[in-house]
Amino acid sequence: MTVEAFRSARELRTYLDSSPFGDKPLGLVPTMGALHEGHGSLIQLAREECGTVIVSLFVNSLQFGPTEDLRNYPRRFDADLLFCERRSVDALFAPSEEEMYPSGTPTLVEVGPEAEGLCGASRPGHFQGVATTVLKLFNIVRPDRAYFGEKDMQQLAVISRMARDMNLSVDIVTGPTQRDPDGMAISSRNEYLSTEERQIAPVLYRALRVARQRIGDGDRDPLLPKNAALKVLEFEPLVRVEYIEIVNPEDMRAVDEIAGPVRVAAAIRIGDTRLIDNVLCEPSNKSRRRRK
Ligand code: PAF
Repeated sequence: MTVEAFRSARELRTYLDSSPFGDKPLGLVPTMGALHEGHGSLIQLAREECGTVIVSLFVNSLQFGPTEDLRNYPRRFDADLLFCERRSVDALFAPSEEEMYPSGTPTLVEVGPEAEGLCGASRPGHFQGVATTVLKLFNIVRPDRAYFGEKDMQQLAVISRMARDMNLSVDIVTGPTQRDPDGMAISSRNEYLSTEERQIAPVLYRALRVARQRIGDGDRDPLLPKNAALKVLEFEPLVRVEYIEIVNPEDMRAVDEIAGPVRVAAAIRIGDTRLIDNVLCEPSNKSRRRRK
């Protein structure tokens, strides 16, 4: 099946306005391209639930800090087009920077408190850039459903909050994190890792699983699973830990006590590559004492 590819919002709108999808929902999978199986699973979910599936490809300069990897971010339009063709995507929206932000500094979305900690603390302005572009994509495509991966849980929380606060008529749908056989969460940034770094990288998921195990075994004091996970990470000399936190899955705030479902989230650096991952944890009824 041939995928229609549009560079301008106007052309995309003309296509969407003349496409007869009847009552079936219109799905959007927003991406920055360099598509991989993480995106593939979101596209598949959208394909199952929607009459029409649009994938956007836009390397969003607003979400990169001045020292981040915007220039080197992988861009491979032809491979992405083929990837989408194979998954029966109806159309790609691949706007240029000028198409999205013709007047330079744009109006920006003021994001909620979900954006403050974790990645928001070390990447100031990142979630504002994400939310601004996602809102713009929503306004251009007007999807009924938009699909985001659980790996970027803070992004998901920021966007869900924006959709609620702004009464956006789009359902935010979450797809589970896709992993390589060694547990490593699939991400476009994995390809920056050298062979040696790639071999070390699954330590991130191993550390999160250690924390999850402790929570499942009854830890109530978040310091206990956090320190257990840190120990795993610190065993690898090439790993630098940016953060590891046990947070409330709704508001992304660190919890004082584990009394319900939490997410353990971490960001590490291996060489120049920054990796993030998280797992949802359910506490058990067994309880271990809080540390004094
Ligand atoms: O997750 C991403 O790829 C990006 O943050 C998104 C949602 C496409 C916004 O640029």
